[in-house]
Amino acid sequence: MSVLINQLNETTAFIKSNYAITPLVGIVLGSGLGNFSAELQIEKEIAYNEIPHFPVSTVEGHSGKLIFGKLAGKPVVCMAGRFHFYEGYTATQVSYPIRVMKWLGVHTVLISNAAGGTHSDFKVGDLMIIKDHISLFINNPLIGKNETELGPRFPDMSEPYDKQLIKKAKGIAKELNIDLKKGVYCGVTGPTFETRAEYKLIQQLGGDAVGMSTVQEVITAVHAGMKVFAMSVITDLGIRDEENIITHEEVLQAAKDAEPKLTAIFKHLVAGL
Ligand code: HPA
Repeated sequence: MSVLINQLNETTAFIKSNYAITPLVGIVLGSGLGNFSAELQIEKEIAYNEIPHFPVSTVEGHSGKLIFGKLAGKPVVCMAGRFHFYEGYTATQVSYPIRVMKWLGVHTVLISNAAGGTHSDFKVGDLMIIKDHISLFINNPLIGKNETELGPRFPDMSEPYDKQLIKKAKGIAKELNIDLKKGVYCGVTGPTFETRAEYKLIQQLGGDAVGMSTVQEVITAVHAGMKVFAMSVITDLGIRDEENIITHEEVLQAAKDAEPKLTAIFKHLVAGL
């Protein structure tokens, strides 16, 4: 058995010995979006540093635990805090929790992130459904020996974001009177925010928002045959004529302010799964 499969078996055996219910939906929370867990009927929390083979999160605004419980009556596992490539983790480590979700029985993942807007119509606080992504200079998490037990060597990426879930989210937003944008997420490594020239380049390449997460997780989930829905909170605007200094604090604040809208959409989506 390969090292990776062995690790997945050990990780999931540990989790199952602590919490026996199979989660069907996995939720990944982005920067400043950790309060989402208040919506969960929490049944078990396991700190990342207790879980065998799990990397440990270091970034401010990320609490670092797996939360198991019910959302809208459905069994879910929620990652409060994720792993970023810019923290020094390998692409394989960044996407390890997604594989753990698959191994536990998860069939659908909902992913959130904070992102800088590059579309001229976007405002801070907007929510954007990710309809597609561009990976800019990010290591592909599937590089290396392919584990056929996880997925194919050359996975199709023509439709990483599930169309049905996008349609459902739009319907939910309409009912709740939430304005939802839709666009292309451009994934970069960070940790620097972009230069003015880079934000413009991303816009010209077809990116509507840019961020430092998500793409590796999505590739891993699609490889493993899971359905994906992802949404960005626009926390800053990359393309402005005036002075445009972007800080981590303003990103966290804007994410926090937009969180209730994102939470409502995720909750209703899960209810309908
Ligand atoms: N660029 C990259 N990542 C980000 C940004 C940004 O402007 N905002 C939040 N995450």
